[in-house]
Order: sequence, then C-alpha cells, then structure tokens
Amino acid sequence: MSGVIVIGSQWGDEGKGKAVDVFSSTADYVIRYQGGSNAGHTLNIAGQKKVLHLIPSGVFHSNTICVISAGVVLDMETLVSEIQAIKESGDGLSDSSKLLISDSATVLLDYHKVLDQAREKGAEKIGTTGKGIGPAYEDRASRKALLFRDLFLDEKILKHKLERALSEKNFLIEKFYKEKAISLENTLKQILFLREELRPYRCQDTSFIIHKALTENKKVLFEGAQGSLLDILHGTYPYVTSSNTVAGAALVGSGIGPGFIKKVIAITKAYTTRVGGGPFPTECQDKQGIFLQKKGEEWGATTGRKRRCGWLDLPALKYAVRVSGITHLALMKLDVLSDMKEIPICVAYQLNGKVVPNYPIHSSELTSYKPVYKILPGWQEDISSIKKFKDLPKAAQHYITFIQQESGVPVDMVSVGPARSATLWRNQLFL
Ligand code: IMP
Repeated sequence: MSGVIVIGSQWGDEGKGKAVDVFSSTADYVIRYQGGSNAGHTLNIAGQKKVLHLIPSGVFHSNTICVISAGVVLDMETLVSEIQAIKESGDGLSDSSKLLISDSATVLLDYHKVLDQAREKGAEKIGTTGKGIGPAYEDRASRKALLFRDLFLDEKILKHKLERALSEKNFLIEKFYKEKAISLENTLKQILFLREELRPYRCQDTSFIIHKALTENKKVLFEGAQGSLLDILHGTYPYVTSSNTVAGAALVGSGIGPGFIKKVIAITKAYTTRVGGGPFPTECQDKQGIFLQKKGEEWGATTGRKRRCGWLDLPALKYAVRVSGITHLALMKLDVLSDMKEIPICVAYQLNGKVVPNYPIHSSELTSYKPVYKILPGWQEDISSIKKFKDLPKAAQHYITFIQQESGVPVDMVSVGPARSATLWRNQLFL
C-alpha cells in the first residue's frame, strides 16, 4: 500500500496547497482527481506566493510527476496559462513528461462559465466561484460532455460535436438567462489553439499509470480539492460543490481500487472558514471574526472574496473523520490564533435548549443550531519559528491535544506559517 489521500476536512481553504507541497517532497506522483479551477491551492516557494488552480501542488518538486485524472473538469484556458506561468518562472515543468492529463477528463468551456454565472444572478444563488464547475459536471452526468480526447478529433467532427453542444446551451443562455450567445466559430478557434498547447501532456490512460506506480510501490499522493463539507452527496447541500470531495472520490476520480490506500490525511485549519452561502454554526460576525479574517489573510484564492470566519467545529470534524475514514490530521494556521486570551472551540450544538452532540445528517438543520463552546486558554507568544511540539506554549499544546482527543485522530503535523519550513512534526507523516 503506497497511496496517501490528502483532503480538506472543512469547507475548503484549509491549507491543502502548502500541506501537499510539503508531503510531496518525497512523492513520486501527485494526482488531482476531482473539482477544477474552482480550487485555489496557495503555496509559498522560497518566499514567493504561488497559487495553483488545476496543476497538482507537487509541480515544484523536480522528481514528482503530476497527474490530472478523469474526475477533474478541465478549464483549458486556465490550465494553459498555469503551465505557461510555471515554465516561464523556471520553477517546474521543464519537460512535458512531468504532467499527464487524462484523455477521459471532462472539458470545461466558456459556455459552462456563462451558465454558472447567469444562475448566480438569480435568487437561488449558491455563491459558486463562477468557474463553470456545476454545468460541466452536469454535462458529464447527462453524457453530453466533451472529453479531453475529443479535442484531438478531426476538426470537422469536433466542430459537429461542438455545434450540438452549443445549440442546446445557447438556447438556455439566450432564451432563459437572456445572456449573449456563445459563438461556435470563436469556441472552435479557441479549442484548436489550446489543444496544441496541451497536446504534449495528453495521456490515454492515467488510471493505468497510477495503478502501475502503486503496484511498483511508488509513493502516490492524491490531492483533494475543496473540503469534505462541500461534498455533493455528504456536504451542506445545496450549498456544496458539484463533485465528491470526501476521500472515496480519490479512488473513483483516478480509477483505482481501495486496497492501495495507506493513509487518509485531513488538512484542518485551526479555526474555520467558508466562502459562498450555506450554514456555518461557528461563524463570528463580530470583531473576532474580523481578527481571524485579517490575521489569517482569509481571501478566496480563486475569486478574491472575503472568507467567512469562525471557530473550530468539532462535531463537523468528527463527521468528516467518519465519512472520509481520516487516519491523520494536519493542523494548519495555528499561528493565526496567537495573541488571543481565550479560544472557543465548538464541542456540540444546541437546539431549543437541548444539547445536540452530533453533526446533523440534514444539513439544513445546521442553520438553526447554536454552537456549544468550550473555552480553552490562549497564548500570547509568537509561535511561527517554533520547530518542536514541546517548545510550543503549553496552551497551544493543549489546544492540539484537545482536538486529537475529541476527534480520535492523531494530529501529526502542525503548520505555524506559510513557508515549507514553518512546519512542526509530531510524527513524521511519511508517504
Ligand atoms: P463551485 O464549486 O464553484 O460550484 O462553488 C460551490 C461552493 O463551493 C461555493 O460555496 C464555493 O465558494 C465553494 N468552493 C468551491 N471551490 C472551493 C475551494 O476551493 N475552496 C473553498 N470553497 C470552494
């Protein structure tokens, strides 16, 4: 067993980019298996901030092969500009064999974005990233999607497929949403250009490559996007993304069986954030929320939106542990909590005066739940250069061990700053 799945345990933005970058220093392969350019994985490479939307976060390690597998929705334009930026900076992708894109991945085009954004203008908006994720997955489910391999068809056949797709989409776009129709000629021109940029990375069967790597005992890291509570089936529906974000999605999205998985590492922020709509019981709309937002620099890496901020929610974490079979926790951004006299942590909920210990299965109930907090002592020291658990202030150690006890999962890594080096290991999480 040499596969390790890394997922977010909250509503995304837990710090997966940094964590995957740190873990992938020893990874042979890093796989993105769901979601698309709605993800924004932020990394700090030698003091420089890098944001990746589609390329796996292992790209800055020269020995790592990055794979975009079948479960991903592929925004070609974003992908091409991301590839170009990395090549120009000299930080990675010096040769094309370092990135493999599955022929079976779903292509996301401008009409998906137009539809997503048009829906968000309506009363029932979700607060999506506007990147076309929902409409692209809808096409996949209704068997109308263009797959990455289709882009390399003969131009005439490709044009015909596109024409069929656009006739339906433009009907919706023009007649229902009253937006400007998408031009067939422009879309085709755009595809013909982008496909040449992406041709070197085309891979017929990434599932075969990943399976081979796993059977050869290579270290394979599956990089999840978004967070468990945004899962289309198990999240706060309808305020969710359109893919599965729980750990099981790594298997389905990359086409491998469960027997290869050694660990499921959940990236958990020391507090909670959420972008877009939906219930969030521990949200702080007062000055403490503003403190977390400012100190944690909580702005969406994809949309620039302010993230909603609040305290850590243990029933929600325990739910994520259950639905994803989490075996290890990596606690991120602990340094943001320094300087606080006390830190509230949600241990249960309350409804009509009664204590509710568990996260509800119908997430709409969350809206009326009030958090029950345990108040833990804070610490005032700057912890950002501490390298060992035992050197952390006692209150910070207590905060970590409390999370560990309550969740039943070891906190093996703690991040105390954005740089790779600002990482403290309680147990080395070898891949
Ligand atoms: P969509 O994935 O763009 O359809 O957005 C659906 C919901 O998921 C919205 O609330 C988004 O803000 C949220 N979301 C999508 N991707 C991310 C992410 O990478 N981090 C945090 N929230 C996300």
